Amino acid sequence: MAALKLLSAWSPLYASARLTGGVWSKGCVCYFSTSTRRHTKFYTDPVEAVKDIPDGATILVGGFGLCGIPENLIGALLKTGVKGLTAVSNNAGVDNFGLGLLLRSKQIKRMVSSYVGENAEFERQFLSGELEVELTPQGTLAERIRAGGAGVPAFYTSTGYGTLVQQGGAPIKYNKDGSIAIASKPREVREFNGQHFILEEAITGDFALVKAWKADQAGNVIFRKSARNFNLPMCKAAETTVVEVEEIVDIGSFAPEDIHIPKIYVHRLIKGEKYEKRIERLSVRKEEDVKTKSGKPGDNVRERIIKRAALEFEDGMYANLGIGIPLLASNFISPNITVHLQSENGILGLGPYPLQNEVDADLINAGKETVTVLPGASYFSSDESFAMIRGGHVNLTMLGAMQVSKYGDLANWMIPGKMVKGMGGAMDLVSSAKTKVVITMEHSAKGNVHKIMEKCTLPLTGKQCVNRIITEKAVFDVDSKKGLTLIELWEGLTVDDIKKSTGCDFAVSVSVNKSSHLSYIMSLINGCLQDMNH
Ligand SMILES: *[C@@H]1O[C@H](CO)[C@@H](O)[C@H](O)[C@H]1NC(C)=O
Ligand SMILES: *[C@@H]1O[C@H](CO)[C@@H](O)[C@H](O)[C@H]1NC(C)=O
Ligand SMILES: *[C@@H]1O[C@H](CO)[C@@H](O)[C@H](O)[C@H]1NC(C)=O
Repeated sequence: MAALKLLSAWSPLYASARLTGGVWSKGCVCYFSTSTRRHTKFYTDPVEAVKDIPDGATILVGGFGLCGIPENLIGALLKTGVKGLTAVSNNAGVDNFGLGLLLRSKQIKRMVSSYVGENAEFERQFLSGELEVELTPQGTLAERIRAGGAGVPAFYTSTGYGTLVQQGGAPIKYNKDGSIAIASKPREVREFNGQHFILEEAITGDFALVKAWKADQAGNVIFRKSARNFNLPMCKAAETTVVEVEEIVDIGSFAPEDIHIPKIYVHRLIKGEKYEKRIERLSVRKEEDVKTKSGKPGDNVRERIIKRAALEFEDGMYANLGIGIPLLASNFISPNITVHLQSENGILGLGPYPLQNEVDADLINAGKETVTVLPGASYFSSDESFAMIRGGHVNLTMLGAMQVSKYGDLANWMIPGKMVKGMGGAMDLVSSAKTKVVITMEHSAKGNVHKIMEKCTLPLTGKQCVNRIITEKAVFDVDSKKGLTLIELWEGLTVDDIKKSTGCDFAVSVSVNKSSHLSYIMSLINGCLQDMNH
C-alpha cells in the first residue's frame, strides 16, 4: 500500500503517464497495476510462488557453493516435481543440499555452471551421460547473465580465448560409452587493439530463484555479506524473478541509497519459513594459532612452495589466491606489508579464518571456506567481481596447475573423460594481460611425469598467460615469446637436476649458480618464523 501511495504522489510520473495516454485512469493510483510483471507480489507458500514453473523451463538459481541459495524455493520445486529443467547456477550445491537435491531427483536436464567441484553426484551424472552440463567460465557466466538483464545480446571477452571454450568441442553430454554426444559450439573471435576476444551470448531465464537478506514492503531488496554473488545479476535476467528473504521490513528500514536491487526487478517475494544455511567447509582458527604446524619448516614439498610463494606479495598489492597452496601462502605475508585479498565470490579485503564464535554461513571465500574480512573490506556481486578481475584491476593472481607449457599456456581444469571439476573462475583470472599470473605446483606429477612441458596435452585454461612458476625445486620466469628462464634453484640441486625433471629446455639466469638465492631467502624466512615462535 505504501508503495502505491509513493507512486501516486510522484507527480512527474503521474503527468507523463497521462500524457503518453497509457492504461491510466484517474481512479487508479498505480500505473503498473494492470501488469503483474511489474508489481511485486507477496507470497506465504513457496509452492504457490513457483508452481507455474513448467517442465522444460530455464531457471536461474542464485548462490555460490551453499552460500546464498534459495533453500525454500528449491524445496518447493521438489514438491511441484517439475522436470526437464535447465538450471543456470554457478554450481549445484552438494549431494544432499541445495540444487544437488534437484539433481538427485532427476528434475534437471541441463546445468549451465562453472564448477562441478566436489559434488560427486553432479560429476557422476555428467560423466555417465545422464546430465547435460554447459561448463562456462565463472566470470563469463556472471557477465552473460548481467548482459541478459541489461538487454545486451552478446559481448566480447578475452576469457577462454585459445581454449575449448573458444574452439568448441567441449563435452556437454556424454554417451554411455564415454564418447561425446553433444559438444559445445565454437565462438567467434575478434581482435581489438592487438588482443583476442571471443563473442559470448547473453543468458536469460524464464524464472530466477533468488535468495536475499531483507526486502522492504515495496519489494526493494538487500543482500548480506558474500551471499550476494550471482543472486544480484540473476534478479534482472528472468521473465519472472522470485526472491526469498529472511525478513520483510517496513519501507525506510534501509535507506534508498543502500538498496541493492530496486523493486522493479522483483516480481514475487516470499519470506522463507526457515533457513538451514548449511556450511560447506567449516574453517576456524584458534586464538593462539599463528605458528606453522610443522616443527621443521622446509621439510615437505608443499611448505617449501607455500613459503616461496609468499615472497611474491608486495606492499599495497591486490591479489586473488587460488584454493590450496596460494591461499596458504597468505599466512606467510610479511607483517610489515599490506596485501588486499580479493575473493571472486564477491569480497575485497579477506581476513583470516574465523574464531569458532565468529563463523558466519553468509561469509565464505571462493574455496567455500568460512572466512572473515578486515576493516575496509567490501562485498559485491559476481558480475562486479569479475569486472574487477577481467578489467585488470587485480595485480596478482596465484593458482595451481596440472600442466604449464614453455610459453606459459596453462592447463588446470579437466582431464578428458576422467575428471571434470570445471574451470570455475580460473579462465577469467588469467585473462587480463595486466594481472601477473603466478603458478604454484609440484615440479612433476607422480611417477616423475613432467608438468612443465613443451606443449600442454590437457585442455587449456589460458594461452600464454603464465608469468612465473614456483615449484619445490625451482622458480622460472615465463616469457610468451622467449620461453622459460630458471631464476632460482633449491639448495642442493643443480641445473642438471632441473633439466631432468623438466619437459622442455629453458634458459638459466646468470644469478642462479652464483649463489643459491632461494635457499638464502628460505633461511631468512625460517629465521623469522623461529623468532615469531618465541
Ligand atoms: C596494482 O595495479 C595498479 C594498476 O592496476 C597499479 O597502479 C599499482 O601500482 C599496482 N600495485 C602493486 C603493488 O603492484
Ligand atoms: C619488510 O621487512 C623485510 C625484512 O625485514 C624488508 O626486507 C622489507 O624491505 C620490508 N618491507 C617494507 C615494505 O617495509
Ligand atoms: C651454471 O649455469 C650454467 C648456465 O648458465 C650451466 O651450464 C651450469 O651447469 C650451471 N652450474 C651449476 C653448478 O649448476
